[in-house]
Amino acid sequence: MSDIKKIAILTSGGDAPGMNAAIRAVVRTALSKGCDVYGFLDGYKGLVNNNFEEMTSSSVANCIQRGGTILRTFRFPEFTDPKVRAIAIANLQALEIDALVVLGGDGSFRGAKLLSEEMDIKTIGIPCTIDNDILGTDYSLGFDTARNTGLSAIDKIRDTAFSHSRNFLVEVMGRSSGFLALDVGIGGGAEFILLPEMNMSSESLVEKIRTRNRLKMGSIIVVAEAENPGHSFELAHEIQSKLDIEYKVAVLGHTQRGGSPTLRDRKIGSFMGYYAVEALFRGESKIMIGYNEGCYDTTAMPEADLEPRRLSDTQVLEINNILCHL
Ligand code: F6P
Repeated sequence: MSDIKKIAILTSGGDAPGMNAAIRAVVRTALSKGCDVYGFLDGYKGLVNNNFEEMTSSSVANCIQRGGTILRTFRFPEFTDPKVRAIAIANLQALEIDALVVLGGDGSFRGAKLLSEEMDIKTIGIPCTIDNDILGTDYSLGFDTARNTGLSAIDKIRDTAFSHSRNFLVEVMGRSSGFLALDVGIGGGAEFILLPEMNMSSESLVEKIRTRNRLKMGSIIVVAEAENPGHSFELAHEIQSKLDIEYKVAVLGHTQRGGSPTLRDRKIGSFMGYYAVEALFRGESKIMIGYNEGCYDTTAMPEADLEPRRLSDTQVLEINNILCHL
């Protein structure tokens, strides 16, 4: 018999399509075990402001197809301050919460880990980020929807690129990792994909364009944002000034974060939510749900000082060299 009677849930960091499927699964699985569930709004800020609602099965009806998060989210670096966390702890204790489910990325899991060190609460993470860069899991919720959104944008840009014989730089999100850029570029048949893992300078890209081996009627280079959103405009300017070749720029930006989740994100989100509650009832804590080699597992929350997950160099270079030609 588990001692978990009350579970809190929140979403933190950047929203990701599929979060709602996971919230729905956590709520319904917990209710089926006789638990009360409290949804805190606006991430950790909601814990501090005691902004919550008790959730029923109907609270999560009609949300699985919606992008974003019905619990809303917030980037809240103030939570690293122990004085701020003390307010959250008092609120959780007053409600007699036994366990907390956090949907987010590694930064969000850090907050959960700190809480379970400072109070008697079990915590578990569900990995969510369109960047797919969380250590310990091959898959993070939102990635599939985001790459399909990026792909559909490339397909549209391809039509106008061909019609006008124009060159495009299409910049996609992904923070410091190139997973999103690689998939969007490969799926969209990009002529080149510029990834943070390649450590390629703008001079090398200019050189690559100068020595391109064919003249195509319109070309698309996918550029990862590489922690410098909007840098494609500088790249385009550099190419123009050195080679006198015009590149139009399309920064996909936050369009990639929204939209109705794909079936993959809905299904994996649902399973992760279910397995998160199961793990808490087995007594596990300070862990996250992982999806590795097609199986669900539990794994340690990533350590605060580790770099995010990144593409391996050989994979990146091989694919870029074989499939993409300027
Ligand atoms: O981590 C998800 C992500 O969308 C990154 O790809 C991007 O760099 C970042 O969040 C943008 O964050 P914000 O919406 O807070 O500007």
